[in-house]
Amino acid sequence: MAGRMEGARWSGKTTVVCVTGAGGYIASWLVKLLLSRGYTVHATVRDPRDPKNAHLGRLEGALENLRLFKADVLDQNALAAAVSGCQGVFHLACPVPTDKSEVLAPAVQGTLNILQACSANNVQKVIVVSSTAAVHFNPNWPQHIPKDEECWSDINFCKKNEDWYMVAKVIAEKTALEYAEKNGLNVVTVCPTMALGPLLQPMVNVSHEFLLYIIKGGPTVMKNIPWHIVDVRDVADALLLVYEKEKSARRYICAPNCTSAIDLVNMLKKAHPNYNYVNCSNDLVPNSIVTPLMSEKLKNLGWKPSKTLEETLVDSVESYEKMGLLQDVEGCPCRLPHLFHMAIEK
Ligand SMILES: NC(=O)c1ccc[n+]([C@@H]2O[C@H](COP(=O)([O-])OP(=O)(O)OC[C@H]3O[C@@H](n4cnc5c(N)ncnc54)[C@H](OP(=O)(O)O)[C@@H]3O)[C@@H](O)[C@H]2O)c1
Repeated sequence: MAGRMEGARWSGKTTVVCVTGAGGYIASWLVKLLLSRGYTVHATVRDPRDPKNAHLGRLEGALENLRLFKADVLDQNALAAAVSGCQGVFHLACPVPTDKSEVLAPAVQGTLNILQACSANNVQKVIVVSSTAAVHFNPNWPQHIPKDEECWSDINFCKKNEDWYMVAKVIAEKTALEYAEKNGLNVVTVCPTMALGPLLQPMVNVSHEFLLYIIKGGPTVMKNIPWHIVDVRDVADALLLVYEKEKSARRYICAPNCTSAIDLVNMLKKAHPNYNYVNCSNDLVPNSIVTPLMSEKLKNLGWKPSKTLEETLVDSVESYEKMGLLQDVEGCPCRLPHLFHMAIEK
């Protein structure tokens, strides 16, 4: 295929790539996809013996082509060992907190550390996973113009709202792009929006905590604002596409679906009527900071999202049912992660 590396084969040899934070939600799907395409994967996790990472060893092809590396992103030696011998690196490791925790050090220094390890080990291409958290929160972007890759969240606006995760994602992504320019490293950033769909890992990550909150009902009423959602399997496809396409460059938004909160709740109720959903206001909030996003740059590169929003939601709920997450546990109320505080009235 012109302009695209031939799958996992590079000069007749298998391509070796590293995925950081491999036990996490999106990374697990990426590792699964890479193994299915014949890549050899160096997967970094903070604790290879933790049962929460055991699913990686059960992925098809893991026995032959997956190697686990113990690495915190603040440990440069551990990162160097993991990327040694790799042609490509996918950097996903980053805390996504449920509360207002600061994540600047692992997000920003962690990104710099992995990029430095890549430079030192002659890695040819690095895909850094940012987020639409680094795009959306810009009050100066005109409401009627869909946000594209030129739009960056405003750090001061995010600080005012104590949105430290957003601050960290903006600084980490800008740091990665600046590092690439200064040091001649081939770095591409991808900004997925809220990723949902089935879970491979046994732990619930923050995007699923949001959906669980909607399904299990909260004490508050949700505001009717727009939400962007992408299927986790389509995110994995996007990351691999951006890696394999030689002409990919700089930044890509990955956000194919936009729906209002009330439509989201109604879509869920239609497929699964028996849960105790949150209440949602009918009136669309005017001048929401969340406005339409464009994924045209990624689509023009060849990205074709394969799942409808309905499929993504149904598959998410099916995972929750299998994992027993929809029963109420006494003394453990379902809380909305701080990251999504704009969803409810203060
Ligand atoms: N899920 C989404 O909706 C979404 C949307 C846009 C962007 N993203 C981005 O996508 C990436 C993955 O998100 P996710 O939702 O899949 O997250 P997740 O399931 O919470 O996984 C995060 C991973 O980062 C690892 N990590 C955290 N701190 C680390 C450190 N100091 N050193 C090494 N590893 C560390 C965690 O390892 P431990 O298990 O050891 O804690 C975990 O494997 C993140 O960069 C996030 O910002 C996510």
